[in-house]
Amino acid sequence: MTTLSDVWPLFDLRIRSPRLELRPVRDEDLPGVIDAALAGIHDPNVMPFSVPWTDAPREVLIRETAKHQWRIRTSVEPDNWTLNFVVRHKGIPIGIQDMTSRHFSITRSVTTGSWLSRDYQGQGLGKEMRAAVLLFAFDHLGAEVAESDAAVWNQASLGVSRSLGYQNSGIKRVVARPGELTEQQGVRLAREDFIRPAWNVRVEGLEAARRDLL
Ligand SMILES: CC(C)(COP(=O)(O)OP(=O)(O)OC[C@H]1O[C@@H](n2cnc3c(N)ncnc32)[C@H](O)[C@@H]1OP(=O)(O)O)[C@@H](O)C(=O)NCCC(=O)NCCS
Repeated sequence: MTTLSDVWPLFDLRIRSPRLELRPVRDEDLPGVIDAALAGIHDPNVMPFSVPWTDAPREVLIRETAKHQWRIRTSVEPDNWTLNFVVRHKGIPIGIQDMTSRHFSITRSVTTGSWLSRDYQGQGLGKEMRAAVLLFAFDHLGAEVAESDAAVWNQASLGVSRSLGYQNSGIKRVVARPGELTEQQGVRLAREDFIRPAWNVRVEGLEAARRDLL
């Protein structure tokens, strides 16, 4: 009998850190992920994301979040992928940690993005989930470089990066909200500069994931 694991092996991938479990978003995770977003992610006066998806009215945000997750899933292929991990704390979805690579076999480089529902911010969980995917990328996939960016005012995101050893790269000008200039600080981490946490991740479903990603 064909199982869901045969159909989409990445569903079996799990990355566990001391307080969190990360796994590629399943349809059954969508209501919880959407509730975590609707509970609020940031001060509405500012926009931390380069696509202003949190400005959308509730009904639009719900539908577009689902479509976004499905689109990302369908575009996964070896060497070119985005993984969107639902971040669960005590079994409850509290945010998303994503990781993207293009031409991984040549670039050995990943970029990450993330958000947490407001009630869960400022407790070291953002750092823990970023560290978890970095350990996965560097130690299990063989990445050599990780990059990220954040609006220049986004001290929480830049704080996560700084505390894990990233160095500032360039500043980019983007338009996130229509008509509004945002300056984005790029950050870059070489594997040897990674300030590793005191703990390690436990990874399940690695072999199947490697077949789909590498
Ligand atoms: C960005 C985000 C994921 C960070 O997660 P978090 O759980 O709030 O951050 P942490 O508690 O793990 O903090 C990590 C580090 O940043 C520092 N930091 C966190 N918030 C900070 C702030 N407002 N100002 C200064 N430093 C801050 C912490 O002190 C910590 O550094 P340390 O380990 O050296 O003490 C989370 O705040 C968030 O979802 N924000 C809204 C969405 C967003 O901005 N996403 C990123 C888009 S680029």
